[in-house]
Amino acid sequence: MQDQFGRRIHYLRVSVTDRCDFRCTYCLPRSHRDFETPDAWLKPQELARVVAAFTGLGVNHVRLTGGEPLVRPELTEIVQRINELPGIEDLSLSTNASRLGTFARDLKAAGVTRLNISLDSLDAATFKQLTGGDLARVMAGIDAARDAGFAPIKINMVAMRGLNDHEANAMVDFCLSKGLTLRFIEAMPVGAGGQRAQDHYMPLAEIEQRLRDRFTLTPTAMHGSGPARYFQIDDSELRVGFITPQSQHFCDTCNRVRLSVNGDLYLCLGQENKVALGEMLRGGASDSELQAAILAGIARKPQRHDFLDAPTAILRPMSALGG
Ligand code: 5AD
Ligand code: SF4
Repeated sequence: MQDQFGRRIHYLRVSVTDRCDFRCTYCLPRSHRDFETPDAWLKPQELARVVAAFTGLGVNHVRLTGGEPLVRPELTEIVQRINELPGIEDLSLSTNASRLGTFARDLKAAGVTRLNISLDSLDAATFKQLTGGDLARVMAGIDAARDAGFAPIKINMVAMRGLNDHEANAMVDFCLSKGLTLRFIEAMPVGAGGQRAQDHYMPLAEIEQRLRDRFTLTPTAMHGSGPARYFQIDDSELRVGFITPQSQHFCDTCNRVRLSVNGDLYLCLGQENKVALGEMLRGGASDSELQAAILAGIARKPQRHDFLDAPTAILRPMSALGG
């Protein structure tokens, strides 16, 4: 699939729930009440049908996101069904790790190939403040993922000035000691948490400079479908990536679209354009009708986000599409 700007779209991010057991301030405000009701959630079978429509059009990488995907009761079944589809080469998952202690093995057995884990602080009190979650559980989840044999495991840290940016060096040491890949992310102003994200926005060039004061950074390639720029740290195994949606937008190489839990296809994280595939499916659409709607949607995928010109224009919380 190609869009009108010549970008090849082969990566689908699937939100399997808009709920989460955490409340990261930049993502899901505590006051948020407007969750999808369970009857609107695509069932595993329905989800597999929609994803099959995409794989039939050339999508080969699916990432499961949330909210927090592990709070969805049928997650293992969803993984199995998607993993069985012809054309799937890579089935990855983004999680806050709070429930990996229980589910890491099952997910690996069901066919998840790679994990991204959010970790914004190594200090329990700061972690609680930023996410509402329990750092010890997350650490146990990370260890369970390593024990289950996931590799690489990528740690995502949203860098926020004055909140956690002083922990950048500690995070490097932590990832080095645990054999994890580390990615710093610039906060994106999406949803009700967007203003707060913007208040603490920090260009990653500053973090990069701080690391350069300590280490030699050598540009390197890393497997994945994303926009991160990676560096090797000294001559270690550690890879550190920088994801800079604000300071250096990477929309020109965008290769992805996103599906919400009710089956809305979002063409860009930073725009509202969507196609109601779930509604079509439940209205009795055939596979070829779904595919025609997908192609029509891709044809009008927006060129880029407008975070700089119109921060906080997007009202849905980040948790609706999982980043
Ligand atoms: N800006 C940047 N990253 C975000 N994430 C969630 N909300 C935002 C935001 N406003 C990230 C999480 C996680 C991934 C799923 O998305 O930290 O790593
Ligand atoms: Fe939950 Fe992830 Fe959003 Fe945090 S960033 S509230 S863990 S969905």
